[in-house]
Formats: sequence, C-alpha cells, structure tokens
Amino acid sequence: MCGIVGYVGHPNQGREYFALDVILEGLRRLEYRGYDSAGVAVYADGEIGWRKKAGKVAALEEEISARPLPESVLGIGHTRWATHGGPSDLNSHPHVVDGGQLAVVHNGIIENFAELKSQLVAKGYNFVSETDTEVAATLLGEVFHNEAGQDLTRAMQLTCQQLDGAFTILAIHAQQPDRIVAARRDSPLVIGLGEGENFLGSDVSGFIDYTKSAVEMDNDQVVTITADEVQITDYQGAAAEGKSFHIDWDAASAKKDGFNSFMEKEIHDQPAAVRDTLMGRFDEQNKLALDELHIEESVLKSIDKIIVIACGTAAYAGHVARYAIEHWCRIPTEVELAHEFRYRDPIVTEKTLVVALSQSGETMDTLMAVRHARQQGAKVIAICNTQGSSIPRESDAALYTHAGPEIAVASTKAFLAQITATYLLGLYLAQLRGNMFADEVQSVLQELRAMPEKIQTVIDGGDQVAELAQSMKDAKSVLFLGRHVGFPVALEGALKLKEIAYLHAEGFAAGELKHGPIALIEEGQPVFVIVPSPRGRDSLHSKVVSNIQEVRARGAITIVIAEEGDSAVDAYANHIIRIPQAPTLMQPLLATVPLQIFACHVAQAKNYDVDQPRNLAKSVTVE
Ligand code: F6R
Repeated sequence: MCGIVGYVGHPNQGREYFALDVILEGLRRLEYRGYDSAGVAVYADGEIGWRKKAGKVAALEEEISARPLPESVLGIGHTRWATHGGPSDLNSHPHVVDGGQLAVVHNGIIENFAELKSQLVAKGYNFVSETDTEVAATLLGEVFHNEAGQDLTRAMQLTCQQLDGAFTILAIHAQQPDRIVAARRDSPLVIGLGEGENFLGSDVSGFIDYTKSAVEMDNDQVVTITADEVQITDYQGAAAEGKSFHIDWDAASAKKDGFNSFMEKEIHDQPAAVRDTLMGRFDEQNKLALDELHIEESVLKSIDKIIVIACGTAAYAGHVARYAIEHWCRIPTEVELAHEFRYRDPIVTEKTLVVALSQSGETMDTLMAVRHARQQGAKVIAICNTQGSSIPRESDAALYTHAGPEIAVASTKAFLAQITATYLLGLYLAQLRGNMFADEVQSVLQELRAMPEKIQTVIDGGDQVAELAQSMKDAKSVLFLGRHVGFPVALEGALKLKEIAYLHAEGFAAGELKHGPIALIEEGQPVFVIVPSPRGRDSLHSKVVSNIQEVRARGAITIVIAEEGDSAVDAYANHIIRIPQAPTLMQPLLATVPLQIFACHVAQAKNYDVDQPRNLAKSVTVE
C-alpha cells in the first residue's frame, strides 16, 4: 500500500527541476497510499545519495533541508505503510545495499523472504532492518554481480523469478546510472512518458504534473526506463508491449484549492464528480450508450444474476445500487464484500455478471475476487476511478467514474460517482433487456442529471452541519438509522465517523432496531435518521418516522435528514437537516453529503488529521 515514484531525465537539459523535485512532488501526491515513513535515493557524481525518515513526507523534506542531496536527474522515492517491520528510520525505504551502490524501494509483501534471507545469511550477508525489502535488495545485488553480468534489467528478471508474493520494486545502481529498473506482480506500477524524461509511479498522480501520457504494464513484467527509452519484458527477458493511455486527471484537481483538507475539497467536488460521470454516455438520440462495455449484447441479455463485489465505502455504493438494479432490471442482485466472496464458494456461472466497484482499482481483495469470478466463467465489469489500475485491466470491461483524483483516505466523491455509474449500468441493462421503456429510462436519467445542482445545495447548507459537529465532538458514540437505500447511507455515515474522527459509530437498518440495538439508546445518545421521501413510498416514510419517535422517547438526540417540505418529522427531531426533494433512489446522492461534512468537522474539531487518519492507507493492496 506504499507509494512509489521514479524519475530519469537527461543531464544538462536545462530544466528548472531535478529528480528530487519530481520525486518529492510525486511522494506528496502519493502520500495517501501510506504515510508512516518516506525516503528517496538519487544518483549523482558516481554515487548514490539517500535520505529516509520515519513519519510523513514533510519529515523527510526537513531531513533533506538539514542534509541536502546533490542535484541529480535520476532517482526513486517511497512513502510507506508498514507491513514487515514497524515504522522506523531503519525500516524505511530505500534500502541501500551492495556497498552503497544499489538502492531499492518496494511496495507489497515478499512471502518467501524468510527462506531467501537464510540462504543469503548462509552466503555471508548481513541485514540491518526487519524488512522483506532489504532481502529482495540484497538478492538483487547478489544476482547483479553473479548471474546477471552486472546488468540491472537481467538481474531484476532473475530476482523476480525467485520472489513469491505481491510486489512492485524499483532499483537504481551506481554502475548503470542512466536507468531505473522496475518490476511488478499484483502491485501497481504505471509508466509516465515525457520528452527526454520518463517516470514511474504507483499511480498517475505520481507524475501528473509532468505528463499526460502513460503506459500500463501487465503482471510479471520488468520495465527499464532511461531518459529516452522504455523497454518492457517478462521475467524471462522476452520483449513485451505496454498499453498506452491518456491521463484524464487534471493536475490542479489533486491540489487542496484553499480548503482545509482534501476531504473538504473532495466533498465540494461532488457535483462535478456526478456530472462528469454522466457525461459522454449518450448517443445522438440521447439514448444511453456505454460504448466502453465491450461485452456482447447477447451475453448481457442472458445474465441471470448480478454480484457486486467491493470493500468498505465502495461496498456500500454496491448496496445502494442493488435496490436500483433489481428494481429496474429485475435481475437478482447480491452484494458481497470482496474478501468474503472468494472464500464462501459462491455460485457463479457464465450467466453471472460480476460488478467490481473500486475507486483505486488496486484493492487486493477485490482484485482477487475478480480473478476468482472470471475463473468461474463470469463476466466482470469494473467500475473504477483510476486509469491504468489493475482491477479494470483484469476485468472484461471497465466503466470509469470521472471523479478525478481522490486523495483523502476517506472516500467521498468516489462514493457518489460509484452510485452514479452503477445506476447508468442498471439503466443500460434495463434498456437493453427491455425491462424499461425508453421514456422510463429517460425520466430516470433526467432525475440523475438534476442531482449535481441538488448536491450543491446540500453542500451550500454545510455550515449548519459543521456547527452540529462542533457541538457533538465529545459524543462517545453516534448511531445512524436508515431503511431501504437509506440503510447503506447510514452505514456509510458511521464508517466516515469511525475512520476519521475515531468515534464509535454504527449504522443500522431502522427496522432492526427493535430486534436489539434499541437497548443502546440512553439519555443524550445522538442518532442520525435518514428519512426517505414522503412522496411515492409513504409506508417506508411513515415507518422511519415511527423509528424516530421510538428512539426519541428513550432519550436520544435525533438528527433527522429529511427532504424539504416533510413536516411529519418536525415534532420528533432535535435537529433537522433539510435536503432537496428527490425520488427515493436518488436520495443517497444527497443524504450522504451531510454525513460526510459531519465526520469531517468532528475530526477537525478534535484536531485530527482529516486526510490521513491513523492506521489506514487509501489503497489496500495487501489481502
Ligand atoms: C472508506 C474507504 C474505504 C474504501 C475501500 C475500498 O472511506 O475509502 O472503505 O472504500 O478500502 O477501496 P477501493 O474503492 O479503492 O477499492
């Protein structure tokens, strides 16, 4: 789950920046992937210089200011989420071996590191850290001098043949100072192409300031980049081709833009995230046309079951989608946590459509579930936010959400964009299979198109929620209740509060209350209730209103999210947060927003790092 960057440019090219500038900028952008230590290595004047430090990238920058590194056009950098060995200066990357000539950074876990280590110890090597990375680096150095004839590319190919597990490795060697050699297996790596300079990154945000042209590479491949060339091979040395793509993300969208945190900024990005996800998906007759699906219509027509696989917030988006897809398409739809899916021996056939939801496209649990589903013969559609990532690459088709880079660890705009994309998929299937008439599809699309403006209205009313957050920052626990699509919204509200405000929170299906959880209610217990629209599904609405009364009668402080004009809640709410009127299935796109704002402001009021909460990393690339 670490972030990795590499840069190589021509010497004396007259650029205003050096390798260190590119690498530090890349690490700042990739810091969301892990932030317990960081380090860089650069080559200059015949030797490799390096600095590494426990703590955030800022601590590394201080270290470099205190002990500057020479100007250089070649280097690698790393920001870490510790797996093997705790976060310390010593365990930080790069690991520099071979008498200070070889520097290595690594993301992932080398499963056979203990066995390799004892073989290397038997050959007389010493180790200073507790990491698996130092073992891989030492092996690479040994192979470089012995079997590989001092060719770093060959050494990497041969080394990777001996490694088990998931990894991305970048290496530079003082004896071949014009190149970075990298390899990947089940861990992300993309190549950025420049003019007389090339880049490597865990994702495109590692070099987004410098180029929009990128190449994705497959598993079990090695890439060698110099200032002018990019060469990809497999581990046996056979040449391979990468897949080029244009980076849609805008570098400016990965900046805070004057907001206190990325999370706050990304909450404000949500109208655009939904609008952009809808854009370009209609033909000249305004009919929904998902050209990128590349799955034969006959196959999509024959589907008899949909399984949505995802983790965390993305799984809650899947739960929302289930209500819509079943309603529109009449296809039985299940939602399964990706890490559970594989181990429960799910019933998957050629007629099953698996939808993998992932912002990062790198969540290992989801990736493994995708592979499992495809092995069983299912077709897999990835709904993903990150170009060049593994999940869309390994799926049969990909539908991208266009939320732009999401930097804060707590997912916000990706959630709304995922709901939007799954709705497009549901409507498309309903249109294709004839479950809905064209005018019915159009009327739902009209509702969807109206959402960005309504989301903006909710964001504009955020001050009320911020004040509420301030007044409740010392609560010991907060509960969230919802029914139907309001239930996953309740779960998402609770998750946000747990992960960034470290506050105990739980989301319940409101109907479940009387089956146990109501015993938790005591005087002063804050309870958020997501109230469905009273227009259209009145029995649902009146049941939720009864639930508010039940908790209020037992002393709860009720914070009710209800649509404009719904006066039925007035008598039972301590606080009412109004959202614009919207049909039931559209409501999650609105009701989630105050919950995000609430969590963000509680965390801020407690002086926590909103964007980089403790123990977490944005992209969970280990199982
Ligand atoms: C919570 C959060 C996580 C992710 C989950 C899946 O705010 O961000 O729960 O939703 O780790 O990540 P992706 O969508 O990248 O697969």
